[in-house]
Amino acid sequence: MLLLFLSCAQLLLHWVGAANADGNVEPPLRRKEFVTLHKWTELKLTLPDGYQQPAPLDALRYAQDKLLPVDVDVEYGDDGYHRTFLTIPRLSHGVPYSLAVVADSDNSTILNPNLVPYPSYDWHSSFGQNCSSLTSAIRTFIDDCWRLWVVDLGQINAIQYCAPQILAFDLVTDQLIHRYIIPASQYTPGVSIFTALAVDVDPSVPGAECSNAMIYIADPWGYGLIVYNMQQGQSWRIQNAHMQPDELLTPEKTGNSGIFTVSISPRRHDAEAANRRLYFHALNSFLEVSVPLFLVNNATLWTLPKDVETQKELLNEFRVVGSRGIQCESEAMDSDGNLYCSLISSSALIAWREDSEYDSDHLKVVAYNPDKLRFVTGLKVNRNNLDEDELWALSSNPELFVGGNVLLDDIKFQIIGCGVKNLLENEPCAVVINHLRKA
Ligand SMILES: *[C@@H]1O[C@H](CO)[C@@H](O)[C@H](O)[C@H]1NC(C)=O
Ligand SMILES: *[C@@H]1O[C@H](CO)[C@@H](O)[C@H](O)[C@H]1NC(C)=O
Ligand SMILES: *[C@@H]1O[C@H](CO)[C@@H](O)[C@H](O)[C@H]1NC(C)=O
Repeated sequence: MLLLFLSCAQLLLHWVGAANADGNVEPPLRRKEFVTLHKWTELKLTLPDGYQQPAPLDALRYAQDKLLPVDVDVEYGDDGYHRTFLTIPRLSHGVPYSLAVVADSDNSTILNPNLVPYPSYDWHSSFGQNCSSLTSAIRTFIDDCWRLWVVDLGQINAIQYCAPQILAFDLVTDQLIHRYIIPASQYTPGVSIFTALAVDVDPSVPGAECSNAMIYIADPWGYGLIVYNMQQGQSWRIQNAHMQPDELLTPEKTGNSGIFTVSISPRRHDAEAANRRLYFHALNSFLEVSVPLFLVNNATLWTLPKDVETQKELLNEFRVVGSRGIQCESEAMDSDGNLYCSLISSSALIAWREDSEYDSDHLKVVAYNPDKLRFVTGLKVNRNNLDEDELWALSSNPELFVGGNVLLDDIKFQIIGCGVKNLLENEPCAVVINHLRKA
């Protein structure tokens, strides 16, 4: 894992200059103040009352200095009630639980709020011995059916204890409502790691809206995309040269990260469903790539043998949307088809609207902030209770990922947010939670 981040950190410094020289991306200048929901100088995963705290000497289960949260999701209920989810995958030993929620009692505490395990500590306490529980949650996604989808790596410290799995929890009852185990042929044990999860619910089927979901997962070290059709209970794997790192960009011995993100065109009334696309980029690449979603969704095309002609046609359907001349890391799309991406090491967030040219006229730097936009490992567009999109990011001190020095009082992780409209219209950031706090 460290290698992945080492390569980013090195590349970032390197490519920022290149991008400016290229003129591909405007130099980011306008500082944007995000709303800070929570921040940590020290992240502690405590156990709820009634559970015995692991002894600090039990480094296999408890090593607080090793915690690296990577993903975030903000769930809005009615009246602005909210919960904030974090994943802290077990990339090393010592992580007591890998899926956490900010404790209700601390939901308005900005500095060092307490976390509690989700849905309960029992789900996390087997450390790879019970594959029906959670071994290492790495990514989450909240869909339109009040479900929290979770991808579980099945690994601890790069050892594959259990098969990776996809889980869905009902956010009203916090009960497991769906589980799918990824077949052995679709991942490489100890290698495959999952850096993006997107879920698409089809609301057009009356009565079956919530059983009709498609799930997309990026595997950046195995260089593939896993697609899961919930209704059919079937998944398949898609591979393509664009899912591999750009060899020219990859410094020796570091960085071999391919497909890092997955975003899908929103369902829009004014657009043909057949025009929806799936967007992705490899971490070690300047290119944004897309493929028609209806092809990705067609299991037949990826599971049955194809003649050479069909293979060629399929290959041609992968289109380079454009080159940004710089690397970006996490990516998310809003319900209007704006694709946001955090530029590596340049403290900037860019936005691009699908259907426009992917060039310097249409790639906009919508935020710049060296204190808040640091190393963005998780980026989400979450719908608030007013049905507006809010952008949330988990931003970390990059030194943590390369084993660098971090001072005791430094902010290590922060969760920052901004209304999507505020970003696009260059207004001060506001989110519903913030309004409540000030009220
Ligand atoms: C914070 O949690 C409490 C329950 O402890 C809840 O009543 C309140 O609405 C929450 N506030 C927000 C802004 O979510
Ligand atoms: C394994 O974990 C699941 C989920 O937490 C739980 O329901 C089940 O009872 C556990 N099985 C054993 C044998 O502990
Ligand atoms: C999937 O692709 C196959 C092969 O091209 C085609 O015959 C079939 O109609 C497609 N299925 C759907 C649901 O589009």
